[in-house]
Amino acid sequence: MPKIVVEKSGPLKGSVRISGAKNAVLPIMAAALLAEEKCIIEDVPDLKDVNVMSAVLRSLGSEVTKLENGSLEIYTPEIKTAEAPYELITKMRASFFVMGPLLARLKNAKIPLPGGCAIGARPVDLHLKGFKSLGVEINIEHGYIEGKADKLVGNTIYLDFPSVGATENIMMAATLAEGVTIIENAAEEPEITDLANFLNKLGANIKGAGTDTIKITGVERLGGTRHQVIPDRIETGTYMVAAAITGGDITIENVVPNHIKPVIAKLRECGVDIEEMDDALRVRSTGELKAVDVTTLPYPGFPTDLQSQFMGLMTVANGSSVVNETVFENRFMHVSELTRMGAKIRIEGHSAVVEGIKRLEGAKVSATDLRAGATLILAGLVAEGKTEIHNIYHIDRGYVEIESKLTSLGARIYREED
Ligand code: EPZ
Repeated sequence: MPKIVVEKSGPLKGSVRISGAKNAVLPIMAAALLAEEKCIIEDVPDLKDVNVMSAVLRSLGSEVTKLENGSLEIYTPEIKTAEAPYELITKMRASFFVMGPLLARLKNAKIPLPGGCAIGARPVDLHLKGFKSLGVEINIEHGYIEGKADKLVGNTIYLDFPSVGATENIMMAATLAEGVTIIENAAEEPEITDLANFLNKLGANIKGAGTDTIKITGVERLGGTRHQVIPDRIETGTYMVAAAITGGDITIENVVPNHIKPVIAKLRECGVDIEEMDDALRVRSTGELKAVDVTTLPYPGFPTDLQSQFMGLMTVANGSSVVNETVFENRFMHVSELTRMGAKIRIEGHSAVVEGIKRLEGAKVSATDLRAGATLILAGLVAEGKTEIHNIYHIDRGYVEIESKLTSLGARIYREED
C-alpha cells in the first residue's frame, strides 16, 4: 500500500496555485445532468472524487470527456436510466447529488442510501424533506431510496439545519418544477453560489444564493454553458496553515480572499501576517504562534473542513486553546493520530482542549478522512524525524498533487510503497 513520508522541513517559501474547488465541481457535475446541451466545466481539479462522479454520470447516460486543458465536457441529450449504481454511490457520498437532477428531468430516481463515513452518520433526511415538499413520493427499502412524482411543484421549504448538500440537491430539483420554490435557512457557502451561477447560465431562474433564503422559479428546460469553477477555499486554508506552522513565507495564488475571511481573521489572531491581494494571499509567520480558541460554524463561520488543520497548528502554539466542532458529530478522529506524534489534546464532548508543546515527534500515523490526512502532513513538516502517513487514498480524494505543491515550497515529502 502506498504511504506518504514527511520529514522535518524548514520554513516553506515560494508560491503555490490553488486548484478548482472539489466541493463546487461535484454538485456542478451532477447539475450538468439537467442540461440538454453540452456543458464545458473549466478548472476541474484532477481528483479521485471527480473521476467517481464522472463514472456515475456515464452510468446514467452522460458523455463525459476530459479535454486537453483539464476541462470537462458533459453532454446528456437524454438520461438513460433513473437508477444510480450501488458500487459508485457508496464510494462517494457526494454522488447523492444526482437525485435532485434525476427527479427534475425524469420525475423518477432510485439511489442507494449513501453510507456514513468517519466524520459522522451524515443522514439525508433534509434532502428527502425537500423533495417531498416538491411533491415527490419517497420510498426507502432494501437500502435504496426511490423517488417518484407525476410532476414537481414549487413550495416553501425550511431546512432545520443549513445543510450544504440538501440546499444544493433541492435547488437542482426545483429548477424544472412548476412555480416558485423558496428554501429558507439555506446554506450560504460559496459553493452554493457557484452552483446557482452555473444553473442560471443554463437558463434556470435562481435568486438569493449565498444568503439564507433562495428563490427558484421553475423553467421548461435547461440548455448548455461554459463555466469556470471557483478556487478551493479549503485547499487555500490548508496552505495558509502550512505557512503558519513552518514559520514560512508563501504566496497563494488563484484565491478569492472573501471566501476565506474567517480563516484569515483567526490566523491573524494567532500572530500570522496575512496580506490580501485581488486573487492571492501572502502568508508569513515567525513560527511563534499564539494559542487561540476556534468554533466551527456553517458559512460564513469558521469552516469545519479546516478544523483539523487548525487543531494541528494549535498543537505547537504557545498556550492552550479550545477547538469546538459544531457541524459534525464525530470530527475528532485526527486527535488520536496527533497524540501519537506527542500532541497534548483532551476531548470533552464536542470540544478538544489543546495544550501547545514545543515540538511534535515523527511517527507512523493513519489518515481517517481527507482533511485529517492533510493535517498529519502539516504536523509532519515540523515534527522531529520522519512521519509516515497510511491510508493516503483519503488525501488523494481532495488535494491535487499535494506532494509536488508542497515540495515546490521546500517541503521534504514523498510517496513510497509500504
Ligand atoms: C458538504 O458536505 C461538504 N462536502 C463537506 O466537505 C463539508 O464538511 C460540509 O458540506 C459542511 O460544510 C461536499 O460539498 C461534497 P451538510 P454535506 O449537509 O453536504 C447534517 C470535505 O472534507 N445533515 O452541510 O454532506 C450532517 O449530518 C467534506 O470536503 C443532516 O442531519 O454537509 C452534518 O452533521 C467533508 N441531515 C451537518 O448536517 C441532512 O439531510 C452538515 O452536513 C443533511 C445533513
